[in-house]
Amino acid sequence: MKKKYLEMILDSIKPHPNPKSSLEQYTTEGKLASELLLYAQKDILNNVVFDLGCGTGRLSIGTKLLGAKKVFGFDIDSESILCGIKNLKILYNNPILDKLDINKDDLVNNIHFITKDIKDINFNYIESLMKEYNLENYKRVVIQNPPFGSQKRNADRIFLKKSLEIGDVIYTIHNSKTRDFVIKYIEDNGGQITHIFKGIFRIPMIYHFHKKKNKFIDIDIYRIVKVK
Ligand SMILES: C[S@@+](CC[C@H](N)C(=O)[O-])C[C@H]1O[C@@H](n2cnc3c(N)ncnc32)[C@H](O)[C@@H]1O
Repeated sequence: MKKKYLEMILDSIKPHPNPKSSLEQYTTEGKLASELLLYAQKDILNNVVFDLGCGTGRLSIGTKLLGAKKVFGFDIDSESILCGIKNLKILYNNPILDKLDINKDDLVNNIHFITKDIKDINFNYIESLMKEYNLENYKRVVIQNPPFGSQKRNADRIFLKKSLEIGDVIYTIHNSKTRDFVIKYIEDNGGQITHIFKGIFRIPMIYHFHKKKNKFIDIDIYRIVKVK
């Protein structure tokens, strides 16, 4: 799929109507999401994706549009999950999917949005999901944009830990300011960083403590492979 269509579809997906600052519920913009996902497509294609902290479903939906076999999106916030499910229904009726010849039933039937705290996800739970859906022979790809930890210190740490526990390949977005910590954490916990991409994340004025219309944060996107 061409970037411009992916970006257009992702930007049509509705953000959280009532975001909670404590959970850092920021949506990844279509441009950044499509650049990341198109880069990750070689890993995503025909494999199983886990979107940790899926929010209203942008990255999950993007990975399925780019050929993931099955996608599981997890978020602690049930309102986000309901929004994700609603977004899928809205997307099903979007005529652009017919124009692009996308299998809409495959799209909606193979994305599963699940309310779950990341701390309750572990290797055995993922194994049971893989078994339940006959996915044992597929690669496990984690795509995540965790909270950066600006509201709750170290909130991104549990995401790094869990992604390294369940994923064969991981794409994860972090504030560049935490680069030294993130690199050390990954290397100390069985991951090998193959690429780091730099980018900019736009934070719009959505919470009461935001003073500017937009704030721009330097980010790093890591591609990590699990060292067995
Ligand atoms: C920066 S947002 C990213 C949302 C979405 N993935 C995107 O890229 O548009 C972080 C998400 O992590 C979720 N989250 C925060 N803490 C969590 C936890 N402990 N378990 C699961 N989800 C969590 C938030 O509700 C929020 O949706």
